[in-house]
Amino acid sequence: MNPILSSSLNSAIATNQLSLTSFKPLYVDQVSGLLDAAFGADRHNKSSYKLRETCQDIPELSQVVLHNDGDKPSIIAATIAFSQMQVGNAKALLLGPLAVDANFRGQGLGHYLMAATINQAIARAKVNAKADRWQFIILIGDLDYYAKIGFKRVPLGALDYPQPTDPNRILYLDIANNGLHNLMSQTKLPMLLNKPNFKG
Ligand SMILES: CC(C)(COP(=O)(O)OP(=O)(O)OC[C@H]1O[C@@H](n2cnc3c(N)ncnc32)[C@H](O)[C@@H]1OP(=O)(O)O)[C@@H](O)C(=O)NCCC(=O)NCCS
Repeated sequence: MNPILSSSLNSAIATNQLSLTSFKPLYVDQVSGLLDAAFGADRHNKSSYKLRETCQDIPELSQVVLHNDGDKPSIIAATIAFSQMQVGNAKALLLGPLAVDANFRGQGLGHYLMAATINQAIARAKVNAKADRWQFIILIGDLDYYAKIGFKRVPLGALDYPQPTDPNRILYLDIANNGLHNLMSQTKLPMLLNKPNFKG
């Protein structure tokens, strides 16, 4: 997973003008503004948001890219969040929302942020295998965009995803050996996402 950044973003990262940092409560308004601009102010009605409400936040993996410009206040150039959910009897991560500020799009920042945070998730799952044995990552999005990071379409009917969701947009990425395919062979389909009141 080695996304290509534009040369200007590469040098912005090298000089710390752009920096990846964990989400903090002080960013909440800016992040909300970025997400409203990216997905619309009614984004909370989306099925992915409804599912996320039943998941457990993983704050360490929810990150922003800050744009630091001298004495000016920092701007949030991109944001990504992860939460944990249960799929059948397995633990998985739900990725999203991911958004890049319109002024920073088309330069590789979205793929860079995704690859960096997914690599952290894989590393964390290896170190702390019992607590964080996430087997795969699920998201709702356009395959054409996420395939560059390795995401594939979840086989139709495999997951009991909240409606309305276009099944072609339910994607997954295996991050441990016994990923989604192995789980599907052992579990009755469709697999339930989170038992009632699941919070980790
Ligand atoms: C989607 C988004 C995160 C991409 O961020 P970005 O930093 O511009 O992405 P990258 O620079 O890493 O990748 C850009 C490439 O992805 C393509 N791309 C962008 N959005 C796409 C989409 N929805 N479907 C397919 N391809 C897409 C671009 O055309 C570009 O292709 P190219 O490299 O061949 O020129 C950003 O446009 C955004 O925040 N959009 C609004 C929110 C959103 O739709 N998020 C989820 C996507 S399903």
